[in-house]
Amino acid sequence: MAIVSASILSADLCYLGRDLQRAKDGGADHIHFDVMDGLFVNNISYGLPVLSCVRRYTDMFVDAHLMIVDPIRYIQRFADAGADNITFHIEAASDPDAVIGEIRRVGKKCGIALKPGTPAEAVFPYADKVDMILVMTVEPGFGGQGFIEEMTDKIREIRTYLDAHCPDVHIQVDGGINAVTSAKVREAGADVLVAGSYLFGAADMAAAVSSMRS
Ligand code: DX5
Ligand code: ZN
Repeated sequence: MAIVSASILSADLCYLGRDLQRAKDGGADHIHFDVMDGLFVNNISYGLPVLSCVRRYTDMFVDAHLMIVDPIRYIQRFADAGADNITFHIEAASDPDAVIGEIRRVGKKCGIALKPGTPAEAVFPYADKVDMILVMTVEPGFGGQGFIEEMTDKIREIRTYLDAHCPDVHIQVDGGINAVTSAKVREAGADVLVAGSYLFGAADMAAAVSSMRS
């Protein structure tokens, strides 16, 4: 069954504890924590102090998605603040192997992300060294954007590669994911589904989570 990850970029940050509880009660598996630095993407979200609060509040698996330049500088601090998984962007790292090594050194799960314009082959050299490949299905930076349909072919291409070389590696998708697009990306081979506006905008979070799995 697909893993559903609730992106708190769409939570009401004045009521973050309440919204973390909504995600847990609604049956989401992970909390997705987007970090934006205003350089790698044209937006600034939140960072270490907020992650520490999330960690104190919930026992859910917390997946940090670092949209920051030169991510190796911050791996230790995001690990200390409570991330269970740390995902960095291949476009932001001059030496992806070094970043993967640093995430392993601090004992965390590791993901590598690629923007819509980055070809699938770019991540192949790192595929067997990570737990997850994050295929961005919108341009990173903002919630509430529309799913880029062409990304299903990229997911399929990566799934074919993983099946041949390292079948246990997950494919995560992030951006414009809802009940309709979940079905498309699962069919193409994604198994970790991030959603922000769809889940937190739903009147019934549990129904929304289930709709992404069925
Ligand atoms: C965008 C973020 C996403 C964002 C997705 O850069 O990485 O995690 O929260 O939002 P939705 O699900 O609203 O597209
Ligand atoms: Zn994200």
